[in-house]
Amino acid sequence: MFGPETVTRFQGIETPFYYYNLGLLSQTLQACKTAADKYGFHVHYAMKANFNPKVLATIQSFGLGADCVSGNEVSAAIAGGFKKQQVVFAGVGKTDKEINIALDADIFSFNVESVQELQVINELAKAKNKMARVAIRINPNVDAHTHHFITTGLDENKFGINSWQLNEVAETLRNCSNIQFIGIHFHIGSQITDLAVYKSLCIRINEMQTWFEDHGFQVKVLNAGGGLGVDYHHPDAHPIPDFEGYFKVFKDFLKVKPGQEVHFELGRALVAQSASLISRVLYVKYGQKKNFLVLDAGMTELIRPMLYQAYMKIQNLTQDFIAPLSQTNDPSLKAQDSKLKYDVVGPICESTDCFQKDVALPESFRGDLIAVRTAGAYGEVMASRYNLRDAVASVYSE
Ligand code: LLP
Repeated sequence: MFGPETVTRFQGIETPFYYYNLGLLSQTLQACKTAADKYGFHVHYAMKANFNPKVLATIQSFGLGADCVSGNEVSAAIAGGFKKQQVVFAGVGKTDKEINIALDADIFSFNVESVQELQVINELAKAKNKMARVAIRINPNVDAHTHHFITTGLDENKFGINSWQLNEVAETLRNCSNIQFIGIHFHIGSQITDLAVYKSLCIRINEMQTWFEDHGFQVKVLNAGGGLGVDYHHPDAHPIPDFEGYFKVFKDFLKVKPGQEVHFELGRALVAQSASLISRVLYVKYGQKKNFLVLDAGMTELIRPMLYQAYMKIQNLTQDFIAPLSQTNDPSLKAQDSKLKYDVVGPICESTDCFQKDVALPESFRGDLIAVRTAGAYGEVMASRYNLRDAVASVYSE
């Protein structure tokens, strides 16, 4: 990802900023597309992970669909060139305004999360004399074995419709003249690295499609959601996720009938490794118990470590790539290889504004460039202006 040339370029740029490696992004998209195409699977990009315009343009150029969770995302996807017949719209709280935006855009499908929502979409579609295509989002009660905060498919989560409500769903669907049922949708969580979890999901999807068919509904679309995880610990060793292995689980365990389509909604796996948050050390504070590196970026630029206790690798780019260039061959003048431990913190007036405690780094100095790696997903999109901070900038690979 980085080398002396890139880091030298960063030295002339005001920090903090997100650095996007568009080459790696393209390689990742190609790997995903090749693996999905092998089985005829359809992939929608989950826009919530990153809607930076250059990132979106790159993703759109690979012909992926879009998975949206707000009316604004639906509008942005279509304005950005995603085909309306490849746009799906999920979300537990779609407003009437947002539903109308999606109806006007004639999107591929609403992923519907409650019986009441089904009735509202039907009424709004009727008023426009339109048919709304819907997939029913079913809460499969499958444990994703991921962080509690990013699990979505358990009974205790707010998402989707629970299986004991399916009779009511079937009756509502029969009574809704402006709804076209196209299939079933699932999402069990994010940052899933245990592929066995997807086997359990396939078993639930197979049960659910049988249920719908037994009740007289043709299931054309199986949407298995997203959630494939990335390697936050070793971004350089594993820059591209195992798309082959991921899709193969579905190929092996999903009972796909002739004419049926299988859809996925991947966010993180497509964009996470392509970006890092780049900041500078403002101050080094040596204490009796702790040393602190105070950066010029904090929870306002990247909130994942503070909000989910997420691990994201921290690297001192100046010490890793620039300092070695100035070392002579005289071993007595070489910088020591030993590392120091620092709590790496941001400048925000909150104690929780800490990227990571006790990070082992080379001795670090004011002005050193620090990268927080694997920040392409749920990074820039979750930035805020808290403390009236400047909006975070973006820089791209040449
Ligand atoms: N589809 C639906 C319906 C979703 O709820 C999500 C993510 C996705 C697709 C994309 O999942 P992915 O492939 O990215 O795992 N902000 C959190 C992650 C929240 C994910 C919510 N749903 C984080 O930074 O870890």
